Amino acid sequence: MKSRKLLSMLLCCLLLLASITGCAGGTSGAAAPSAGAAAAPEVKTYNVGVSIYKYDDNFMTLYRNEIAAYFKTLETDTVKYNVNIQDGKGDMAEQTNQVDTFLAQGVDVLIINLVQSSSEATITEKAKAANVPVVYINREPMEENAMDYDKACYVGADARQSGTYQGEIIANLPTKGDVDGDGTVRYVMIMGDPENVDAQYRTEYSIKALTDSGIAVEELFKQRGDWDQAKGQELAASALSQFGNSIDVIFCNNDGMALGAAQAISSAGRTVGKDIYLVGVDALDECVEMVKAGTMTGTVLNDHIGQSHTAVDAAVKYLNGGTNDKRIMVDYQKVTA
Ligand code: BGC
Repeated sequence: MKSRKLLSMLLCCLLLLASITGCAGGTSGAAAPSAGAAAAPEVKTYNVGVSIYKYDDNFMTLYRNEIAAYFKTLETDTVKYNVNIQDGKGDMAEQTNQVDTFLAQGVDVLIINLVQSSSEATITEKAKAANVPVVYINREPMEENAMDYDKACYVGADARQSGTYQGEIIANLPTKGDVDGDGTVRYVMIMGDPENVDAQYRTEYSIKALTDSGIAVEELFKQRGDWDQAKGQELAASALSQFGNSIDVIFCNNDGMALGAAQAISSAGRTVGKDIYLVGVDALDECVEMVKAGTMTGTVLNDHIGQSHTAVDAAVKYLNGGTNDKRIMVDYQKVTA
């Protein structure tokens, strides 16, 4: 009798235990896992808000695609990134709204390619008030006390280096850029958006590299093409019709505009490498092919892969509670035949 009572008590205990473990391991709504099955690992999803100054930009298109692709490679079974990329459409008011919306949605980190680098303080203030880290890319905030927030940093490249490399590509030619041999390098400068320090520094440092190596220069034409291929073509065509054969070199602050200038050069019946030189910056695939073929004198690699990965790594570091240097720079590289 006693042993039967003991047995039934034991059975009761076992049943109770089974129901308790079943409950604790259950996922809401789903059938309880069988005894011994591991609970599904908890997945942490980070929300990332990205705004690009405008989608219609050759270089920033490569850059933003790489941001998305690289975040994917960092995902694990337990960490996911929900990356929301928006087009700033070249409109600072639009971009400010995008940042407001991201913050209202509770994003965990921002990656911002400013439409206007002078608006950085406004964006930083918003991010700081919401305690959301922000990584600026491509358009360097240059104001005094820029990025006044311990969770704000800039990832980019020193545009002075790219300008210097453009000048050196020309200075290192056997003719030192003086294609008609008249003793002076006469040039055309097609600039990006001058609000962007990349445009200012490339314009200044490309010519400084020539004068620093003792080359006499004359500026024939300088206008802004806002990084745009069609504008690059228009401006180069207009410079070629005004100054004809006296032009030795066309400097473009980026490859997009150099692609346009190359079309204008061939329409004007001129030949790169023979009676004119052409340099850009970015090393877009098409331009690297042109450099190999001799239809462009040279370009400078603006490393969108290195920059996008560095920017994403900085964002992830913030997400994991780490800190970043204020300015993180990725090197440019000369590209010649
Ligand atoms: C690139 C340009 C691009 C610009 C956008 C520059 O660093 O060289 O191609 O249009 O960034 O801000």
